[in-house]
Amino acid sequence: MTTLMNYAHRGASGNYPENTMIAFEQAIKLGATGIETDVQMTKDGSLVLIHDELLKRTTGVNALVADIRSDELLQLDAGSWFSPAFKDERIPTLEQLLDLAKRTQTFLNIELKNGIVPYPGMEQKVIETVRAYRMEDQVILSSFNHYSLIECNRLAPDIPTGILYMEGLYRPWKYALSIGATALHASHYAVLPDWVAEAAGHGVIYNVFTVNEPAEMIRLIQAGVAGIITDYPDRLTAVLSKL
Ligand code: G3P
Ligand code: MG
Repeated sequence: MTTLMNYAHRGASGNYPENTMIAFEQAIKLGATGIETDVQMTKDGSLVLIHDELLKRTTGVNALVADIRSDELLQLDAGSWFSPAFKDERIPTLEQLLDLAKRTQTFLNIELKNGIVPYPGMEQKVIETVRAYRMEDQVILSSFNHYSLIECNRLAPDIPTGILYMEGLYRPWKYALSIGATALHASHYAVLPDWVAEAAGHGVIYNVFTVNEPAEMIRLIQAGVAGIITDYPDRLTAVLSKL
């Protein structure tokens, strides 16, 4: 038996509209043990789950998340772009997902999507919200903005963090530890077995994104990664059931 984490990327986004409650709920039914999501902040400071800084692709509205109030944003149709069958899906709040994760004992990877729009104060709000749900031990925070992770670690050293990156960083475990992170959220192209072993020797784990092909899932499991982030948690469930 492996204890590898099966993280559904934006929920089960291969088959459902990304970052919606149906994508999160279905991910759990498909065997996900964790959910990866992207958090941003509205004009009036609400934490909402959406990947793009611009609402256009998933709602059709040509505005930035940062420029719209939550009462307006939460009414938008976030499902029709994927299929008319999902026209009733809305952009969830972080609270909605925390509630689902708490009820179902699902782990959460909350990615602070603040690499382009900085969202001052978002770290504190995310941490306060996680604490309000008492889910500190069921959450890992990640970001491509590593200054933000330093702020997260300063505010909440008890909540683990992972550095997101795409490139071949040199000895990223040393870099991660230097900023207080204990996980490497690496693009799967930037992961070799020797590195996973060396990172483990320093107490640093790999959670790898976005892995949709079973052969690549098997390569990474054999390399010893701690978690795989996939659009198809059902595929990873099937791979794990055969090991
Ligand atoms: O957290 C892993 C992955 O979600 C990072 O990339 O662009 O899908 O948020 P992106
Ligand atoms: Mg993400």
